[in-house]
Amino acid sequence: MTERGSIAWPPAPIKTERLVLRESEARDRAAFIELFASPEVGTYIGGPQPRDELERTRPEVPGRRFGLFVIELDGSMIGMITLDQRDAERPGHVRPDGGETELGYLFLPQAWGRGYAAEACAAALGWFADALPGEPVVLCTQAANDRSMRVAAKLGFTEVERFEEYGAEQWFGVWYSLPPSP
Ligand SMILES: CC(C)(COP(=O)(O)OP(=O)(O)OC[C@H]1O[C@@H](n2cnc3c(N)ncnc32)[C@H](O)[C@@H]1OP(=O)(O)O)[C@@H](O)C(=O)NCCC(=O)NCCS
Repeated sequence: MTERGSIAWPPAPIKTERLVLRESEARDRAAFIELFASPEVGTYIGGPQPRDELERTRPEVPGRRFGLFVIELDGSMIGMITLDQRDAERPGHVRPDGGETELGYLFLPQAWGRGYAAEACAAALGWFADALPGEPVVLCTQAANDRSMRVAAKLGFTEVERFEEYGAEQWFGVWYSLPPSP
């Protein structure tokens, strides 16, 4: 998405009632490895990655890039949110030219069930809507991923279509900060 170039990154840390959304730092490395090595986290997103390989290959400051927010609770990372450009080759689009911004979220299992993901994602969407008013955000999740489906609904994503990918049914939805133009 070309407009991404006009958004200043990283923004100042975003504070919510309980959380902070901020850029990645070296002290988050262990939590990143935990996230990607966790079988629970990996259940609907391609499975866990070998911990030793992650230890060997992750950079000193993992995840320092445009659109990736580390989510911090009481000074420690509990998850991450991404606002990436959706691959034009993949199914699921709301614009003919593709390149939509796509929301992703991964939280450590010990942080599930407390409303942190929904709270952090709402703040990330608010930041994005201020930066690019009216720009849609898309989301793709396995339909069987109940927790993720509930987060999507709570945030106000609405279904665009469902399709098969990676051998499973995928739910593809969209969120607009402003009503879509007719
Ligand atoms: C998807 C994922 C982020 C959802 O996490 P989550 O903690 O279930 O989501 P929320 O932050 O919305 O929390 C909702 C739960 O917190 C509970 N809750 C407790 N206290 C709360 C509070 N103060 N405010 C809001 N909700 C609260 C809600 O009742 C709800 O419980 P329920 O799931 O039993 O209905 C998490 O399961 C995850 O990281 N999964 C692995 C990665 C993944 O699959 N990502 C999706 C890829 S698209």
